[in-house]
Amino acid sequence: MKKTLLNTAKRPIQILTKRLTFLLTKVCSKNSFLAGVYYLIFSRKFDREHLAVLRGHLNYNASLKNISNTSPLLRRNIHRIEKGLIMKPRRAVFAENFILETVECHRRATERTGYCENELKWATDVLDEYFEAVQLANAATEVQVAHAYYCDTTKNVGQNSIKQKIEAYRPYARSESPPCRVDYSALVDLFQRRRSIRWYQDCPVPENLIHDCINAASLAPSACNRQPYRFVVANGVEKARSVAACAGGTLGFAQQLPAVLVVVGDLSAYPEERDRHLIYIDSSLAAMQLMLTAETLGLATCPINWPDVDRSERAIQKIINLAAHERVIMLIAIGFAAPDGGVPFSQKKGVGILSKKVDS
Ligand SMILES: Cc1cc2nc3c(=O)[nH]c(=O)nc-3n(C[C@H](O)[C@H](O)[C@H](O)COP(=O)(O)O)c2cc1C
Repeated sequence: MKKTLLNTAKRPIQILTKRLTFLLTKVCSKNSFLAGVYYLIFSRKFDREHLAVLRGHLNYNASLKNISNTSPLLRRNIHRIEKGLIMKPRRAVFAENFILETVECHRRATERTGYCENELKWATDVLDEYFEAVQLANAATEVQVAHAYYCDTTKNVGQNSIKQKIEAYRPYARSESPPCRVDYSALVDLFQRRRSIRWYQDCPVPENLIHDCINAASLAPSACNRQPYRFVVANGVEKARSVAACAGGTLGFAQQLPAVLVVVGDLSAYPEERDRHLIYIDSSLAAMQLMLTAETLGLATCPINWPDVDRSERAIQKIINLAAHERVIMLIAIGFAAPDGGVPFSQKKGVGILSKKVDS
């Protein structure tokens, strides 16, 4: 009775608050300045993202001097050089405005113990091809200085053997791509088979299968090939449950998930705000490949939402200890599906709704 009265008294206040919030939203959504004021004074819901983006910049800049085992700058620049190498027609000289920073970064990578071997080989092979391709005599001073600097870095590496050249990580002709062994209907069958599975057998997920999934995920496209993500693996029912319980969307089935992957985006891959969304795009493309791969290995998956909620952020932080420039993108439950577990039909929109022709 007391509770009902209290709730009745609260109602007008709730209605008033809702109206005021609506009014404020209406005023503040008139332009970007007022929207900024809104998020500065009336709502602090973007705070965590702001902080993560800024910490990302800080870490990006720090990594230019103190390189880690992979470098977003080296990856991006080598990618840009590869694009220059395949350009039609290829320019006699290109990459003038970033070749120097690239070779400097490449040197730091060669000097860093434990630097990712494949990344360094890719960078070296592409830079070899670049300096073979550009017409140094006509090149700007920056390119000539970069060439001398690069030769100095690689002077002890020696000439690549013919075998290494064949296996070089360089641009190649499309005709050399592996053949496509999957036809349309087989692929659609795989897509049909993949469903979000929430009920699993009580059996562990072999680590090597998870690695196979992550390996296939790594082949997904990413902006400038930076791959700004990693997968944190919580394998085993106990670990999986504690991670899954941090997310709201696992209520009722978190306790029996055999393994959960946390997809983590890395904002230190970018020096500018304009690229802050790429962690979500690139991670999601990789996540999709991971989930499809799981199906081919006899596993099932369920993506799990990660909204920007204070309680969840704090809870997961205690378990996986993320850096301030890292953001959880989503969780993925993974395991062997329980044969008798239900699967929602989840009807999909048709082409008619999803597509529209450009009129003129
Ligand atoms: C980003 C994302 C977040 C999701 N979050 C949840 C979740 O929190 N809990 C859940 O049970 N399913 C979740 N799902 C699964 C969706 O409900 C499911 O993908 C959708 O209903 C379509 O079904 P299907 O995956 O079987 O095709 C999520 C899916 C995506 C892509």
